[in-house]
Amino acid sequence: MKLLGFALAILLAVATCKADEEITCEENVPFTCSQTDRFNKQDFEKDFIFGVASSAYQIEGGRGRGLNIWDGFTHRYPEKAGADFGNGDTTCDSYTNWEKDIGVINELGVKGYRFSIAWSRILPKGKRSRGINEDGIKYYSDLIDGLRNNSIEPFVTLFHWDLPQTLQDEYEGFLDRRIIDDFKDYADLCFEKFGDRVKHWITINQLFTVPTRGYALGTDAPGRCSKWHDKRCYGGDSSTEPYIVAHNQLLAHAMVVDLYRTKYKHQGGKIGPVMITRWFLPYDDTPESKNATERAKEFFLGWFMEPLTKGKYPDIMRELVGKRLPEFNETEAAYVKGSYDFLGLNYYVTQYAHTQDPSPPERLTAMTDSLVNLTSFDVNGQPPGPPFSKGSYYHPRGMLNVMEHFKTKYGDPLIYVTENGISTPGGDIPFTEAFHDYERIDYLCSHLCFLRKAIKEKRVNVKGYFAWALGDNYEFCNGFTVRFGLSYVDFNNVTADRDLKASGLWYQSFLRDTTKNQDLLRSSLSFKNRDRKSLA
Ligand SMILES: *[C@@H]1O[C@H](CO)[C@@H](O)[C@H](O)[C@H]1NC(C)=O
Ligand SMILES: *[C@@H]1O[C@H](CO)[C@@H](O)[C@H](O)[C@H]1NC(C)=O
Ligand SMILES: *[C@@H]1O[C@H](CO)[C@@H](O)[C@H](O)[C@H]1NC(C)=O
Ligand SMILES: *[C@@H]1O[C@H](CO)[C@@H](O)[C@H](O)[C@H]1NC(C)=O
Ligand SMILES: *[C@@H]1O[C@H](CO)[C@@H](O)[C@H](O)[C@H]1NC(C)=O
Repeated sequence: MKLLGFALAILLAVATCKADEEITCEENVPFTCSQTDRFNKQDFEKDFIFGVASSAYQIEGGRGRGLNIWDGFTHRYPEKAGADFGNGDTTCDSYTNWEKDIGVINELGVKGYRFSIAWSRILPKGKRSRGINEDGIKYYSDLIDGLRNNSIEPFVTLFHWDLPQTLQDEYEGFLDRRIIDDFKDYADLCFEKFGDRVKHWITINQLFTVPTRGYALGTDAPGRCSKWHDKRCYGGDSSTEPYIVAHNQLLAHAMVVDLYRTKYKHQGGKIGPVMITRWFLPYDDTPESKNATERAKEFFLGWFMEPLTKGKYPDIMRELVGKRLPEFNETEAAYVKGSYDFLGLNYYVTQYAHTQDPSPPERLTAMTDSLVNLTSFDVNGQPPGPPFSKGSYYHPRGMLNVMEHFKTKYGDPLIYVTENGISTPGGDIPFTEAFHDYERIDYLCSHLCFLRKAIKEKRVNVKGYFAWALGDNYEFCNGFTVRFGLSYVDFNNVTADRDLKASGLWYQSFLRDTTKNQDLLRSSLSFKNRDRKSLA
């Protein structure tokens, strides 16, 4: 008791002196990290870049571009596009309203913006030989200039899932090796037109997602899977196609990196892929569950990271997937190995892992080859942290675990956290209602706290953080039923002003020089009395 009192006295003494205060990261609400006079950007290195992120299909709208596979998918399967049958036909119409986007980015005070180029906006028919859309080139060129004029660094994703529909119709997109040359030609055009001003390129967003959700589950574009899994899928084989698609993605990625490093070396930028990460915890304390946890990491992260670091797939995948797993020949392996200057890591949630029996031979799918059952609750029915959405839960410490895992297992890479965020209720709600997104403040600050810990205590080489998302937008598979934005978008009037929600105000104050802005901060924010009823 005496010791505790002593510790409290010390805590109180240092609380007034920020420089000496050690920040402790909590794992559950209430998160005190939202007090920006205690925790803010000064707890990170000066060159650490804070940003926000978006993607073309989710914000631009379809005006002025060719059709892509998300247009095809959302119109063919409106019920898969979101419970509200939403789609990206107009969404935020950022094609017209891009200056509003820059306005919000400026208001937040971030120095980085991650967005993606819509392949079908600059090559409406998918291939350079079939014509370039100069209006599309001008659109991205203006956006890039607008950002740079405001000292905002563009981080540009070449492929955020919106493949030109023509290439899907012609050869099923990433299922065919022809994608490699077409992706290379498209990237070549982007480097040629924008590479003088863009110094951070991302080849493919979330290497895991298209193979699994697009070709094994059929829940995302292009919507292929085995008929036994979902008879609405227009074709596919959930046991083989995901592995071929992943393989071709890696080759296409590697060839684009090689092109950038040879032909565009003089531009002096950096290039890498984006991985979707999760952290995995054992479901119980049996050795089987510990093994299952390791298998989960290999199938989720190693599937791409082993080729990228060693030029081959993980042994455990080779063992369990067998002949269905393609191989890189020597030449290909050499291209894939080391094909990144940095890794973009997206992190959202953590799951528990335990062993699952093999599927019967006629029901093989890439989703079960790992023999892992992933759950949101452990054996005692406990989730890993506060609610995320639809039965999933978040775990801020997982951010630290993921960062450490990449450092120790994959050779201490340069890392940017390219997405991290949480959804709040969507639908047709007014700003005054959407404003109260305190869950988002808790989410972002708690993850930033553990990210800082990874950098300070584990020496992980992380140089930037991009919150998802700049503004509300079309959410893949959820339409407009959820809102991920730090700013509000009125989908009934997309030309209306985009105001910052509470989370946007929080991020703004986190990024300000708070020693100078204390008064402003105190008067504009009142976190102390915030209402937490939405966290029920
Ligand atoms: C950026 O700044 C340049 C130089 O001042 C100006 O010519 C250009 O119009 C600006 N572009 C945008 C999109 O703001
Ligand atoms: C765990 O995995 C290792 C290596 O794959 C294996 O040798 C061991 O038998 C497994 N243990 C259990 C309990 O499954
Ligand atoms: C590897 O495969 C490529 C096709 O991707 C082929 O052009 C090349 O000759 C092969 N190299 C070796 C060493 O087999
Ligand atoms: C996964 O584990 C949970 C909890 O033990 C169980 O309820 C569920 O049926 C399992 N799923 C599969 C596909 O085995
Ligand atoms: C949309 O918002 C703009 C800008 O605030 C406003 O001028 C316009 O009247 C609004 N349109 C409608 C239909 O509400």
